[in-house]
Amino acid sequence: MTTYHVRAAGEEDVDAVVGLRRHAEDWLRSAGIEQWTRSEYGARVVKGWIGAGSTFVVETEDNEIIGSLSLDAGDPTFWTEEEMRAPALYLYKFIIRSDHRGTGLGDVLLDWSCYRTEMAGGLWLRLDCWRDNFGLHKYYLDRGFQYLTTRTDPVRMSGALFERPAELRLAKKPAAYLIDHTLGGIEFPNIPSL
Ligand SMILES: CC(C)(COP(=O)(O)OP(=O)(O)OC[C@H]1O[C@@H](n2cnc3c(N)ncnc32)[C@H](O)[C@@H]1OP(=O)(O)O)[C@@H](O)C(=O)NCCC(=O)NCCS
Repeated sequence: MTTYHVRAAGEEDVDAVVGLRRHAEDWLRSAGIEQWTRSEYGARVVKGWIGAGSTFVVETEDNEIIGSLSLDAGDPTFWTEEEMRAPALYLYKFIIRSDHRGTGLGDVLLDWSCYRTEMAGGLWLRLDCWRDNFGLHKYYLDRGFQYLTTRTDPVRMSGALFERPAELRLAKKPAAYLIDHTLGGIEFPNIPSL
């Protein structure tokens, strides 16, 4: 079982996280998947979220950044005010470098995101994603998310809305282990339940 470390991203991580985003764009393009086609816009969004303190990076034991995700408020382009009154956190820019995918790390990170959602008082982990990418929709449906609806925007291609109860823990053992440095180096998923 591989051990990874998760911590809050700082300004010093901007290049690494933008690099991950570009890596994901290359992978998507070579797989013929229409998603994340606006590279400069994506890099600006990544920088903004790191500046806002809502991005986390995942590192190997050798301190190499191989994944990242952001947890923040809902995007008002896609979620209504009423929907955003529900206690929820919203997952953005979930990326794992190709050579660490399919290891169980993604499932652990979704459980961890749910855990953080609960810590923040949330009942739902939500996301909006590329609305025509049904392969990606399947990824989330297979992991306990429910499809809610699709909203369109003239410029942005996201808008397929999903949510998962924050209490869900679906990672199968043996899976990747996370050392959570946002909580002083506690091992996840061995963190006691809330
Ligand atoms: C999403 C991600 C973090 C999941 O990592 P993981 O839990 O290790 O899962 P895997 O990468 O093994 O993917 C599982 C399946 O979903 C598919 N998948 C993953 N991302 C996808 C995408 N963006 N579009 C279509 N299919 C996707 C994979 O091809 C794989 O399909 P397979 O089982 O038929 O081989 C990782 O795939 C990734 O970084 N993807 C690119 C960035 C991305 O699209 N992030 C989500 C934004 S909302």
